[in-house]
Amino acid sequence: MSSSSYLFLIQISVFILCNCSTEARSSPNISLGSSLSPLGRQISWSSSSGDFAFGFLPVVDDGRATRRFLLAIWFDKTDPKTVVWSAEVNPSATGEATLELKTDGRLVLTDAQNRILWNSSGVSDDVSHAAMLDDGNFILAGPDGSPRWQSFQHPTDTLLPGQSLLPGNKLRSMETNLLQLHRRFELLLEANGSDLALYAINTLSGSSYGFYWSVNTSTIATQLCFQQSGLRLNLMNESVISITSPSPETERDMYQRATIGDDGVFRHYAHPKNNATMGWKTVAFFPEGICKAEFTYGSGICGFNSYCKMNEDKVDCKCPPRYSYFDPNRTFGGCKQDFRMQSCEVDESSMFELMPMPNVDWPLAGYDHFWPVQEEKCKEWCSLDCLCAAVIFWNSTGDCWKKRHPMSNGMSGGFVNRTAYIKIPKGEGGSGGSSLAGVATSWGYVMPQIVVPNAK
Ligand SMILES: *[C@@H]1O[C@H](CO)[C@@H](O)[C@H](O)[C@H]1NC(C)=O
Ligand SMILES: *[C@@H]1O[C@H](CO)[C@@H](O)[C@H](O)[C@H]1NC(C)=O
Ligand SMILES: *[C@@H]1O[C@H](CO)[C@@H](O)[C@H](O)[C@H]1NC(C)=O
Ligand SMILES: *[C@@H]1O[C@H](CO)[C@@H](O)[C@H](O)[C@H]1NC(C)=O
Ligand SMILES: *[C@@H]1O[C@H](CO)[C@@H](O)[C@H](O)[C@H]1NC(C)=O
Ligand SMILES: *[C@@H]1O[C@H](CO)[C@@H](O)[C@H](O)[C@H]1NC(C)=O
Ligand SMILES: *[C@@H]1O[C@H](CO)[C@@H](O)[C@H](O)[C@H]1NC(C)=O
Ligand SMILES: *[C@@H]1O[C@H](CO)[C@@H](O)[C@H](O)[C@H]1NC(C)=O
Ligand SMILES: *[C@@H]1O[C@H](CO)[C@@H](O)[C@H](O)[C@H]1NC(C)=O
Repeated sequence: MSSSSYLFLIQISVFILCNCSTEARSSPNISLGSSLSPLGRQISWSSSSGDFAFGFLPVVDDGRATRRFLLAIWFDKTDPKTVVWSAEVNPSATGEATLELKTDGRLVLTDAQNRILWNSSGVSDDVSHAAMLDDGNFILAGPDGSPRWQSFQHPTDTLLPGQSLLPGNKLRSMETNLLQLHRRFELLLEANGSDLALYAINTLSGSSYGFYWSVNTSTIATQLCFQQSGLRLNLMNESVISITSPSPETERDMYQRATIGDDGVFRHYAHPKNNATMGWKTVAFFPEGICKAEFTYGSGICGFNSYCKMNEDKVDCKCPPRYSYFDPNRTFGGCKQDFRMQSCEVDESSMFELMPMPNVDWPLAGYDHFWPVQEEKCKEWCSLDCLCAAVIFWNSTGDCWKKRHPMSNGMSGGFVNRTAYIKIPKGEGGSGGSSLAGVATSWGYVMPQIVVPNAK
């Protein structure tokens, strides 16, 4: 079978299996030549029900709207409004931007200097109008009303009911803030349909550290389909793998979305339509034990020196004692010590102690390993070693691992049957205490850039 006929089959199955709504229904047509701008009379186009809007959404910082805008689609009746799609454009560039539906059928975002910031690529030339549909799909439609470009085929971090992810496509987590987009995780349906997996990715390069959850199809998957009843993986042989199970929750009159969170957890959410302030409730999520994920490179699920703790469906990234977040508003960003490290010039071992942290580990990348040893020896050898930041002891085998900075893959929970001993200055505010803080950047590695988060 040639690759083109293979793709053709995939396309066919979209319409047969997912029932994705693609007709324009009675949504108001947006005619060619229409435009939006954040400072103009019209900043968005609504769907006929008013449930969704497409246009410029002000980025809210610390409860106040800023003059930075996302070009986005959002649930317009929830409080706060919930973004379901956004163009990859730096919000600080859009203050004086204009979005125009050109007469040639392209949708183009330009800045005040008429430079193109974003455009709908790959659009054929017979677009006759655009429409914000009631299912949350924004389309550029041909004369017959069928889509030539649709936001549903360019998902960002969210799927809406009726929307599907096709082979080779991915959802990427968003931590939207004023300065840059942090994308730390992605859900990818492999181009050859062989598997669906969640990956940890490097924020700057987008390259993958490895997967931490996957579904092995053992045949070809044609699409990941999201419907009221949950997420399903449709296979070439017409059978279906259920990824999240249906919930009675979703049978009521609910808005729904499935989103990969900035903590790496993929969640199916529901929100009552009749109460704007009720908020989004998690109906289902995966993976269960995200804190168990280990990667050879990178910081792990949480930032460097912190550790991951699962709290129901929520991921908490915690700092060890006498460590604090680089940015208290961005707990995924890692932790720094609030004290000066043990000197390697003079013997300061008596000024530090090893504080026990039961059921905590920073697996992989230990720089020394002894086996079998007594717990007291394990601690003593870390105390005497100025490079040792922590030591992990496994009492059932007598394994002892030394850790240096930055520590990665930090995890805690009942499944961690080891104890970490973290090296901190003795006593409250101890001899190596806060008066000596502020040299944390001299370790010879660069922490992820700290940025001002967006208070949604
Ligand atoms: C964290 O957010 C609060 C309020 O949202 C703000 O006052 C504070 O300056 C922020 N802190 C940092 C370190 O950005
Ligand atoms: C339109 O967008 C596509 C994809 O983002 C990009 O490759 C292309 O360069 C853009 N075109 C213009 C004229 O900016
Ligand atoms: C929108 O455009 C389509 C196709 O051109 C047309 O069939 C439909 O009647 C239009 N709808 C409205 C509400 O104008
Ligand atoms: C599908 O692609 C992945 C990644 O390129 C590869 O590892 C895997 O072996 C391929 N599977 C099949 C059945 O071709
Ligand atoms: C996934 O499927 C492939 C191909 O059938 C098989 O070789 C592999 O062992 C499977 N992996 C798991 C984890 O089931
Ligand atoms: C389709 O393939 C899957 C995985 O190989 C298998 O479990 C299932 O029974 C197959 N279904 C049909 C209808 O052949
Ligand atoms: C909406 O939800 C909020 C928060 O749960 C609750 O306080 C409020 O009473 C609800 N309003 C209505 C009309 O149900
Ligand atoms: C080993 O540590 C675990 C967890 O900290 C504890 O429950 C257990 O009693 C310890 N076993 C021994 C032999 O000390
Ligand atoms: C401790 O945990 C490891 C993996 O987390 C497991 O293989 C091992 O069986 C556990 N040991 C005990 C004594 O619980």
